[in-house]
Amino acid sequence: MMAKGNAQTATQPQSFDLVAGERLYQEYCASCHGADLEGQPDWRSAGADGILPAPPHDETGHTWHHSDSVLFDYTKRGGKEALASQGVDFASGMPGFGDQLTDAEIWNILGFIKSTWPDRQREIQAARSGPSQ
Ligand code: HEC
Repeated sequence: MMAKGNAQTATQPQSFDLVAGERLYQEYCASCHGADLEGQPDWRSAGADGILPAPPHDETGHTWHHSDSVLFDYTKRGGKEALASQGVDFASGMPGFGDQLTDAEIWNILGFIKSTWPDRQREIQAARSGPSQ
């Protein structure tokens, strides 16, 4: 049984291992989100199967619009599961990584992704995450 709704696991640690985060990103995320975090071509349009391509994780995407807890939850449980708990039924192409990555590894990847953003996006995202999330 996964630790659903366990607030502690969604708390961002004080520091990240960015080197590990980048290596894990390349291993687990780059195949869809791009080696340079550029996402898949035409990522705003769903394919014939109705499933959206992977968006970029750089500042041209919308990753920085989401709080830490949303990003963590999405990565750990996958898009379908994460949205289902908000009452949204969505055929997401984003798999969950909770079986393959530890919480610390997920935070390292998210830390690496954030480290690539310009100051403005980082500040907005940090403000959105709030001190208590
Ligand atoms: C098999 C392809 C695939 C892999 C591998 C993958 N993703 Fe995704 N991801 C997607 C797709 C497709 C979406 C867009 C659909 C959606 O939002 O549910 C997405 C959306 C997301 C989102 C929400 C949208 C956003 O911009 O915030 C996050 C966060 C995310 N992925 C993180 C990751 C991380 C971190 C990894 C590596 C651990 C990863 N993904 C690996 C396909 C993938």
